[in-house]
Amino acid sequence: MTKEPHPFSPDESLAPAERISLLRETVRHYAEKYYNDPSGSEIPDADYDGLVDDLTRLEEQHPELATIDSPAVSVGAPPSGLFPPARHRVAMMSLDKAVSLDEILAWGNRTQRLLDLDAESFDGLSFVCEPKIDGLSISLSYHNGRLVRAATRGDGYVGEDVTANVATIGSVPKHLGGAGDGELAGEIEIRGEVYLPLAAFEELNARQAANGMKLFSNPRNAAAGSLRQRDPEVTAGRGLSIWAYQLLLGSDGPSGNPGRTTRHSDLLEILRRLGLPVNPETRLVKGVQAVYEFCTELQGRRYSLDYEIDGAVAKIDDVSLYGRLGSTSHAPRWAIAYKFPPEERSTLLEQILVSIGRTGRVTPFAKLVPVRVGGSTVALASLHNEDQVASKDLRPGDTVVVRKAGDVIPEVVGPILSARPEGLPTWRFPSRCPACGSALVRLQGESDTYCLNSECTAQRVQRAAHFASRAAMDIEGLGEQRVTQLLDSGLIRDAADYYALRAEQLEALDGFGAVSARNMVAAIESSRRRPLVNLLVALGIRHVGSTVASSLAARFFDLDEVMEVGEDALGAVEGVGPVIASSIARFFSLPENRAFVERLRSAGVSFGARSGPEVPRVPQVLAGRSVVVTGTLSRWSRDEAERAVVARGGRAPGSVSARTTAVVAGAGPGAAKITRAVELGLPILDEEAFERLLDTGELP
Ligand code: IVH
Repeated sequence: MTKEPHPFSPDESLAPAERISLLRETVRHYAEKYYNDPSGSEIPDADYDGLVDDLTRLEEQHPELATIDSPAVSVGAPPSGLFPPARHRVAMMSLDKAVSLDEILAWGNRTQRLLDLDAESFDGLSFVCEPKIDGLSISLSYHNGRLVRAATRGDGYVGEDVTANVATIGSVPKHLGGAGDGELAGEIEIRGEVYLPLAAFEELNARQAANGMKLFSNPRNAAAGSLRQRDPEVTAGRGLSIWAYQLLLGSDGPSGNPGRTTRHSDLLEILRRLGLPVNPETRLVKGVQAVYEFCTELQGRRYSLDYEIDGAVAKIDDVSLYGRLGSTSHAPRWAIAYKFPPEERSTLLEQILVSIGRTGRVTPFAKLVPVRVGGSTVALASLHNEDQVASKDLRPGDTVVVRKAGDVIPEVVGPILSARPEGLPTWRFPSRCPACGSALVRLQGESDTYCLNSECTAQRVQRAAHFASRAAMDIEGLGEQRVTQLLDSGLIRDAADYYALRAEQLEALDGFGAVSARNMVAAIESSRRRPLVNLLVALGIRHVGSTVASSLAARFFDLDEVMEVGEDALGAVEGVGPVIASSIARFFSLPENRAFVERLRSAGVSFGARSGPEVPRVPQVLAGRSVVVTGTLSRWSRDEAERAVVARGGRAPGSVSARTTAVVAGAGPGAAKITRAVELGLPILDEEAFERLLDTGELP
């Protein structure tokens, strides 16, 4: 895999010794923030990990420059002095990480070699798979069943004594249960992760906001800040919780075995009996392949849990093998952490540009150096409006944190101020429309800025593309690019002109062939019969989206009735208040809109609510099949490609599963989707094969 240059990594042209020294300084700086600063990390975790990886690689390439105190080989940060030091009886180590199936398999292969297992015994090896909780690790010491000390990890050898604070956490037993008195004699150490459930995190931030205090950027930072309070009362009010995942027994461990069990899964069972919360997602599986399946399955469900996880941990179940496997300087070899794709990354904000919507609204957006985050590549992100840019103080040239969690729209969280070049000028909202040059206007009390020229080319493109979009007249193939081409060529002035287009005219344009031109005319033709709800959406009336349009279509007979009933009758419709009613009335009172509607009528567009059942426009060659599209195709946008699948009766889901028929891969496809497709043996189609599939339903 090629490595992206890291924004915080020193210049590659420097001598190795200098790079190593600068990297160590940078890693120490961020480690200190990550572990000891209540407001948490300054840079995303993935960037921090990237720096440590860079340093580790360099030290491996130049062993003569490696030192034992390098942050590449030590974990965490030394104690801050806020709490008494607590020395760990057994070092609290970190975990090696894997970011792909290949890396999990490689870990499996190393394990097999080290244990000298033949293929059959290796395939029969059991692993305990657990969620990797995004919290902070804690060591709990019990003496004769009573909690005597709770310590943070610190640098792995010496942590901080946070007993008084941990004692306030309801789910941490102060006395161990489930065993007779004698059975718990001696020392027991339990390790686990302290975390803040999502509900408690949201409640805490709501309280912070109400008190005018700084918000916590994520539940992990909030958990760390809450645990490291001077006043245990404060910790008590934060709603922290714990998952226990390790039991270390004293030499004279409890009787009735536990001390001599050789299975991690048994130890977890004992933890449960002692009254500690053990994560219910934990599974005992056989073979490395099953470990990977657990990881991907958990990744798919990560957002349905009510606490944050950032990966999965697999541990060899047979504890008696641990001694033979040993550990590296910072991690045991009997476990591996599979890290999910990062949700936050930093990247360079190259430019702030603005786009003009169909209503003339001007939206600033960020043009970023493309970055892999949340499982996809992000190069653009909306910045919403002028105030948002100002409140985040985003400036072109800033290094910014980009966040994308799952299918959520990517967001620019904010600049990393420590990385801002000196004298970087603030960004000013443009005063003129970049498309038509007219003055932009922001009304008092409103956050949005508008281009008021309704003839603005950008607005015309957006309006005509909106008319053809899926929730509107659903005309396949009329995306923004095509519409721009049609407007530029003079073949259309607005969407009403679609209905006069002839195949010969389209054929003369770039990118059209005889078949595609005919298909487009056919698609336009059949859009004449769309139901009233689609037509209402297509008109682009302010505040009238699919929901309002369906209420109107359910209440009124046809478009003529909607135009004539008047504001009061409109406002009386369920879900349509006075604001929407007045917006609709205003729309139809404008002569240019009336003229547009009349041109649609002359073009034979149906205005009626009861225009009969929709006839499928194209042969349903993909009925009952499921096609996943990933990466960039040259002739189709993602949306168009997915619509083409749906129009043929198929489904176009966002993820690959055993039910997927085929995966269409354009340039820069999602690695996870391709890996999954290969594993499941699914056909992977290029653009041509995809087009053939659309035409004939046949797979290569
Ligand atoms: S086992 C010897 N299991 O991940 C390592 N760690 O990156 C023992 N973590 O320091 C740790 N969930 O804070 C283990 N189910 C889990 C975990 C887990 C989260 C954290 C833990 C550890 C870090 C390593």
